[in-house]
Amino acid sequence: MAIPSLSLLFLFTSLPLVSSSPVKDPELVVQDLHRAINVSRRNLKYLSCATGNPIDDCWRCDPNWEKNRRRLADCAIGFGKNAIGGRDGKLYVVTDSSDDDPVNPKPGTLRHAVIQDEPLWIVFARDMTIQLKEELIMNSFKTIDGRGASVHIAGGPCITIQFVTNIIIHGLHIHDCKQGGNAMVRDSPRHYGWRTTSDGDGVSIFGGSHIWVDHNSLSNCKDGLIDAIYGSTAITISNNHMTHHDKVMLLGHSDSYMKDKNMQVTIAF
Ligand SMILES: *[C@@H]1O[C@H](CO)[C@@H](O)[C@H](O)[C@H]1NC(C)=O
Repeated sequence: MAIPSLSLLFLFTSLPLVSSSPVKDPELVVQDLHRAINVSRRNLKYLSCATGNPIDDCWRCDPNWEKNRRRLADCAIGFGKNAIGGRDGKLYVVTDSSDDDPVNPKPGTLRHAVIQDEPLWIVFARDMTIQLKEELIMNSFKTIDGRGASVHIAGGPCITIQFVTNIIIHGLHIHDCKQGGNAMVRDSPRHYGWRTTSDGDGVSIFGGSHIWVDHNSLSNCKDGLIDAIYGSTAITISNNHMTHHDKVMLLGHSDSYMKDKNMQVTIAF
């Protein structure tokens, strides 16, 4: 594997917090990240499993990674590194690729998994393509872990991370995302609501914090591949493969929107 080319973007400010508190010394986060990269590159000479990528080294060197999936939650770098996702919750195995009723999702479907209140580490029983009928509105403390299966979220609306926290999205193929909306969609066991027309993003982060989007392939969506807007912060977007797009990424939607002055995002590799 080639040493990945490195492109890092850091956005930060010291304005008072609104939602999630900005890291006081963002330069320390940057230094930590460079230290992790240096260690990983040094290990290339010594460890046969080493990739030169500190995130991958963190879990791939473990031959039993499949038994220790939650270890991934401690492998992030940058401003989203404290996103624990569903690390402290149960394993949820998605067995059903359907999405027939976004208000009353069936147990075993991805939508049933992501709306739950409890933390969940969500994995897939087999390869599958999930064509969502409406946006997948996630609840807090969830990991969607596609490792070990080929999972496509494609051909319908895709993932929405709105006013929630601690989300990890890893190892998915997210593509051909369409607009959804003008429909009722459930966002928790106790609540569903009316969604207006969505943009058709691959991953839409709206007022979200502690989010890590790692190792996905994203392509050919109606709007952005990953958008982070409306006061979203504490985000790492790493190791993603992005192709066939007009708009790859939107960080903040308006120069005059003050809450976005707090935005801290790491984009790596
Ligand atoms: C990482 O390695 C580079 C090149 O050797 C060096 O200039 C830099 O100071 C190192 N950074 C950290 C934080 O260790």
